[in-house]
Amino acid sequence: MSKNKEKLVIFDTTLRDGEQSPGASMNVSEKLRIAKVLEKLKVDVIEAGFPIASKGDFDAVQNISNNIKDSTICALARAMEKDIVAAGDAIKPANSGRIHTFIATSEIHMQKKLNMTRNEVVDQAIKSIKLIKKYTNNIEFSPEDAGRSEFDFLCLIIEKAINAGANTINIPDTVGYNIPDQFGSLIKRLINNIPNSDKAIFSVHCHNDLGLAVANSLSAVMNGARQVECTINGLGERAGNASLEEVVMTVKTRQDIFTCDTQIATNHIVPASKLVSSITGFPVQPNKAIVGANAFAHESGIHQDGVLKHRETYEIMKAQDVGWLENKLVLGKHSGRNALKSRFLEIGYDIKDDNELNDLFLRFKDLADVKHEIYDDDLHSLISNSINETNESNELNYNLIDIYSVSDSNSEPFSKITLEKGGKKLTDESNGGGPVDATFKAIEKIVSSNSKLQLYSVNNITDGTDSLGEVTVRLEKLGIIVNGVGSDKDIVIASAKAYLDAVNKLNNKPDILHPQLDHV
Ligand code: KIV
Ligand code: ZN
Repeated sequence: MSKNKEKLVIFDTTLRDGEQSPGASMNVSEKLRIAKVLEKLKVDVIEAGFPIASKGDFDAVQNISNNIKDSTICALARAMEKDIVAAGDAIKPANSGRIHTFIATSEIHMQKKLNMTRNEVVDQAIKSIKLIKKYTNNIEFSPEDAGRSEFDFLCLIIEKAINAGANTINIPDTVGYNIPDQFGSLIKRLINNIPNSDKAIFSVHCHNDLGLAVANSLSAVMNGARQVECTINGLGERAGNASLEEVVMTVKTRQDIFTCDTQIATNHIVPASKLVSSITGFPVQPNKAIVGANAFAHESGIHQDGVLKHRETYEIMKAQDVGWLENKLVLGKHSGRNALKSRFLEIGYDIKDDNELNDLFLRFKDLADVKHEIYDDDLHSLISNSINETNESNELNYNLIDIYSVSDSNSEPFSKITLEKGGKKLTDESNGGGPVDATFKAIEKIVSSNSKLQLYSVNNITDGTDSLGEVTVRLEKLGIIVNGVGSDKDIVIASAKAYLDAVNKLNNKPDILHPQLDHV
């Protein structure tokens, strides 16, 4: 970060608003892995969850507070006592903790959702901020749906919130309704009109319903906002939130225009994007800015020629600066345990436990036998697989013991599956339209999840037909949506693992309270 620039605080909400994307729910260990990558990125604040929502959310925030030391850990709480108590308890172990409380301030939300008057809303906000002080002095207040709230009322509630102790004021465009000029000028007017605005950092939280979340956030920054709330890959409720990578790289690339800068370690952006995509099962579109597979690929001859002569003819950023080209050829079948351990450490996994290392080493050898050259992305996938399988060692979970699958152009595809649950072996078989269909039907005969398959996708982890295949399966049952992920060099086996991962998540899924749907 340049010395003579003001600081732009990066507040990542992948683990909270990002998780509100249908199907993106994550378990505690997945959230911790993402939090570790966010810490490496040097994100200033990690919004780790909404602790009152469920025991899983509480545990995730507490676990992240225990393990992450360099970023501030923030917990979300509606302006209600029970939410604040849960948030305060969850962030207690953090080196630096923050509570983010919110209440809606637009007429439509106050009348139709909260059924509260303006005075009641102000009183509840102030009472909540005062209660938060018992837990932390790092207090963020959001007037929800600020982008559609009446300006004078917004000024009034914000002034009172700052007087009560809020030191970050976040202006959400909750429904993604604003456009850049208007939103930038709203931020400027708020800062200029609120008498104590210099006692707080103004933040923005933009949704992408009109595709303007990043543009609105940057316009706000140009008008005085000094915190942006964003998510990896732009994940988030409905059309998502502002994408962290786009906000950060615009500010970095256009330092001629911005008077502030972030401290983000941008070379960790692509690994963070890949991890979030693989855990949530939300693929990144190839032409997505910064993190899409084609973001730095030049197809046209004229462009290729220009880049070879002088890179900056067609490139405004370096691919290495955002973490591309890091997928190094690392190991082969003759590499030893220590080489594997040190490569894991270099890519961010400190494997201390000998049993865990042995297990990973065996998986690595199996893979190296068929694939010969192992890349960093293969190692990430080995870790994901082993973590998933460890999570599955739960009495209630189904584990894959054996699969026999036949694909023959002269007969109907067939699959025979053996699973294990609570020490009992369960076997069934089925034909199907293809080997994957037959496999899912055979599994379904055993597990009877009665869920609907909403998405099935296969990605190869590295190039080539010997690559590991990573399969995502999205299942829906009674409105609950979960993603399962599985990888293997055989995509039918990867598909079975992904299906079982999703079924296990459906079976373990607690009821989760949504911050914006159940306000009172
Ligand atoms: O979009 C929104 O308004 C939110 C608030 C909780 C900040 O996510
Ligand atoms: Zn939001």
